[in-house]
Amino acid sequence: MKLGVNIDHTATLREARYRGLPDGEPDPIKAALACEAAGCYGITAHLREDRRHILDEDMDRLAAALKIPLNFEMANTPEMVSKALKLLPTSVCLVPEKRQEITTEGGLDVQSQQASIARTVQELQAAGIEVSLFVDPAPEVVRASIDTGARAIELHTGAFAEGFGEAVSRRREIQRLVEAAELGHQGKLKVNAGHGLNYLNVKGMHEVPWLEELNIGHSIVAHALFVGFDVAVKEMLRLIHPVG
Ligand code: PXP
Repeated sequence: MKLGVNIDHTATLREARYRGLPDGEPDPIKAALACEAAGCYGITAHLREDRRHILDEDMDRLAAALKIPLNFEMANTPEMVSKALKLLPTSVCLVPEKRQEITTEGGLDVQSQQASIARTVQELQAAGIEVSLFVDPAPEVVRASIDTGARAIELHTGAFAEGFGEAVSRRREIQRLVEAAELGHQGKLKVNAGHGLNYLNVKGMHEVPWLEELNIGHSIVAHALFVGFDVAVKEMLRLIHPVG
């Protein structure tokens, strides 16, 4: 499994003090470069419609500065599709977006938006961008994702993370992830996972087959406040690739 670090919350901290002002700190690009130097596989950033953390210029600077893959997380809107086509990141992860949510709360409702998602997938993939759909680990959503022509899915691990402290829900959620990953793999999708993963629960991902990338944000940024990004990323890498 490869590690993608989501650096959105470095921008959340900057915006808390510097909204609308130039030269704010911390600079998310500096954080991304520190994660790159620590050996992560890629960087994820979510440009939200309300620009509450990552800003348009952050995306431009990330695309210019990074040597590792940039995963552009975005809603399926004409504005964001046109941004992605200009930015040409390695990948786009399509996510649902609600204004009032604190973070991305659920997976995409692929079935009810199948035609529109399929059009976006086709447009972005024709430009050489790998498209991943952020979905709940439910068989009907994985099947609908395969039908859109997307190359990848990212399984939403939020329910797993929430239930991690309790054996029955932990087992149930792992089982859902295992079945969704199997189904995605059979449908020739690349299978990624993310949301709510941390230094404690990430070990559960070793039980899920076919996972290629884990996208982790909040927990790494929070830990980095105390130990710095170099140590925070390396500690997570050790958990993802245990030795021996
Ligand atoms: N993957 C996706 C698609 C997300 O929306 C998020 C949250 O922005 C993450 C991964 C990372 O979640 P967390 O910050 O809880 O690690």
